Amino acid sequence: MLRRHFFRDALAVVGGAATLAVAARAGAKGLKIPEGGQIDPRDRKFWQGVRQQFPLTTKKTYLNTGGLGPSPQMAIDAVQEKMDALEAMSEVGHTHDLWQEIKGSAGRLLGCDADELVYTRNTTEGSNIVCNGLPLERGDEVITTTHEHVGNTIDWLARQRRDGIVVKTFTPSMVSAQENVERIAALITPRTKVLSLSHVTCATGQILPMQEIGRLAAAHGLWYFVDGAQSAGMMPVDVRSWGCHAYATSGHKWLLGPKGTGLLYVSRQAQDVIEPKFVGAYSAGGAWDMITTGEFTFEKTAQRYEYGTVNVPLFVGLGASMDFLLRIGMDNVWRHNHAMGAALKEGLNELGAEVLSPQVSEEHSSIITFRIANMPYADLQGYLSREHKLRTRGIYEGGLNGLRISLHLFNDFADVERVLDGVSAAMKA
Ligand SMILES: Cc1ncc(COP(=O)(O)O)c(C=O)c1O
Repeated sequence: MLRRHFFRDALAVVGGAATLAVAARAGAKGLKIPEGGQIDPRDRKFWQGVRQQFPLTTKKTYLNTGGLGPSPQMAIDAVQEKMDALEAMSEVGHTHDLWQEIKGSAGRLLGCDADELVYTRNTTEGSNIVCNGLPLERGDEVITTTHEHVGNTIDWLARQRRDGIVVKTFTPSMVSAQENVERIAALITPRTKVLSLSHVTCATGQILPMQEIGRLAAAHGLWYFVDGAQSAGMMPVDVRSWGCHAYATSGHKWLLGPKGTGLLYVSRQAQDVIEPKFVGAYSAGGAWDMITTGEFTFEKTAQRYEYGTVNVPLFVGLGASMDFLLRIGMDNVWRHNHAMGAALKEGLNELGAEVLSPQVSEEHSSIITFRIANMPYADLQGYLSREHKLRTRGIYEGGLNGLRISLHLFNDFADVERVLDGVSAAMKA
C-alpha cells in the first residue's frame, strides 16, 4: 500500500477537511489587529483586548506559561468544531492538505519549511527523537547545561547509561553571551559530537546566543540540537539562521495550543542522519515489500518521524493559536513580553530581591527568576498564591531555589505590579 493512498482515502471520506479547519480558525472576537503594524507594548486597550480572548480565570494572576500556556477561545472552539465534525462521521481527519496547512503556520513561526516539521506530543518527544536517533558510539560526548529541563536531560542520561556516551555540562554564565560560547568551547574535545542546549532556559529565562553557538558547532562539525520549549511563541524564532539541525518545542506553552501537542524541526541534512525509531503509517514513503526483499523507504520529508493515529482536532487547535500569534505578529508579542520582563526585573532589583535571570537586556526574556533572603522559594510560592493569588513556579533546576515568573501576551503591566506588591509584602513578612 502506498502512503499517498493512505492520505487520499482519508481525504475522500472526510472531504474538505482543510476548509473546515480554516472556518474554525476565524479570528479573535472584538480584537482589532492592525495588519503588519507595530503595536505599542504599553497599549493597554489592545493588550486587554488580547486578554479577553482567553477564558482563563481572573480570580488568579496566571504567571506560569513556561509550565503550561492557556489557550485562547478560538483555539478551544477550533478543537471542538473539528472534533464534532469528525465524530459525526467517525473519521480520523488526518489529511495531507490539513497537515501541510498547519505545518505552514508553524514554519512561519519557526523560520523553516513545512517539510522540515514533525508533529509530536511535546518537547520531550522531540528531544527523544533526536537523542535516540543520532548515530553515537561509546565515548562520544554531548555538551549541555546544568539549567536544562528534565525533559531534555533524562534522554541523554539514559543513553549515557545504555550506550556509554558521555554527558558533559556547564553552568551558564549570567555575565555575557560570549562567556557562554567560551564555556562550551572549553568542553569540546575530539570526541564531542553533539551540543544540546535550550534557546531560552527554563530555569532563568536566559536567552543563549544561538547563532554564535551555531558557528562553534559548525566549526567543529557537531550536531546542534536546540530545546525550544521556552521560546517558540514567546519571541520570533529563526532556526535556519542558527544553523541548528533540530529544534523541539511544545504546542502547549508559549504557542498557546491544546495540551499534548508539540513540534519538532529537523533540517533536511539531518533527516538522513537522525534515524526514525518509532515508525509506521505516515513514516513510509512508498511501497514496501514484506514478502521477498523487506525493502521500504522512509518518507522524503520530516514526516518520517510521524507514525500512527493522532488526535487531529488538537493539531487544528494548535493551528488556530499559532495563527492568532501570527496575526498579532511575533515582533509585537515579543516587544510586549520583553518590556514586561524588563519592568519586572527592574522592580525586583529596586526591591532588593536577588534576580537570578540575566540583567543584560538582550539576554533576559519574559521569564524572570528571583529569590529573596528571608524566605525559601517554596514558602514564597505558597505565600504569593495564598495571599496575592499569583500562580508562579518554583525553580529547583541547577540548585537555584528561586521563583519563576512567566509573562506572555495575555499578561500586562498591572500583573507585573501585582508581583512586585506581593514580593514587597513577603520581604517584610
Ligand atoms: C526547556 C524545557 N524543555 C522541555 C520541557 C518539557 O516540556 P514537555 O513536557 O512539553 O515535553 C520543558 C517544560 O517546562 C522545558 O521548560
